Amino acid sequence: MLRTVDAAPSHYGPRHTMTEQPKHIALIMDGNGRWAHARGLPRRQGHEHGVEAAARAVQACAERSVKHLTLFAFSHSNWKRPKDEVELLMRLCMQFADDHRQEWVRRSIRLEVIGALDELPRATRLSIERAIAETRGGERMVLTLALGYAGRHDLVGAVRAIAARAQAGLLLPEEIDEQRLRAFMTTGNMPDPDLVIRTGGEKRLSDFLLFECANAELFFADEMWPDFDDALLERALAAFSRRQRRFGRTAEQLAQGA
Ligand code: FPP
Repeated sequence: MLRTVDAAPSHYGPRHTMTEQPKHIALIMDGNGRWAHARGLPRRQGHEHGVEAAARAVQACAERSVKHLTLFAFSHSNWKRPKDEVELLMRLCMQFADDHRQEWVRRSIRLEVIGALDELPRATRLSIERAIAETRGGERMVLTLALGYAGRHDLVGAVRAIAARAQAGLLLPEEIDEQRLRAFMTTGNMPDPDLVIRTGGEKRLSDFLLFECANAELFFADEMWPDFDDALLERALAAFSRRQRRFGRTAEQLAQGA
């Protein structure tokens, strides 16, 4: 049974503490290569099945009325992969947008991007931009793709922009706070993730939404990403619902509704 939130969400730690359904789920989709290797298949096929799993995740989250879903589709460090694998991943991102754009419009899903869209190959960028433009009116769920994304880069970019403003006399140091920092990050428009799910058995964040995950619950699954399914999502949601999010307060304070 889902519980409703009693307070307007705040970036700085919601007042509510009962652990209801997450509003924002972020997915670290790891294990495509190992999934393929275990089946004697080329890595390429792991990524291809990974895209299908990503489409399942979008559908499953939309059906559960999750308001924000963020997929770590291509990290900044993924640029270091072999050229043909990078090209494949770029092509898959393009196909993902092209194949699902109309469905997202129908389902009222809005596509957004964090990271460095401008660093992607032109064809991929154009497909993503087209999907962003056509899904602009979507209100049911925001689907964000992290592309060329690195949490530290995002922070550094924001700090640089703020420093330039301060240097130009447009901003005083004492005016810099969390809210202003966020405004200069590519994640500035999204609420913080409540739940991060990582497949593939590794237990780390890999520079994904570092600043934004300050209070996120983390769920690590041993399944490889192409095996992502409804049952795995349900397990993660069940684990989330059992956790008490205290945001620094004591359990007693929570019981008193503080
Ligand atoms: C990790 O698998 C996965 C990635 C490199 C990023 C995720 C990419 C996809 C799921 C495909 C594209 C997705 C979309 C939404 C277009 P890995 O290769 O690191 O796996 P391994 O650790 O087993 O080698």
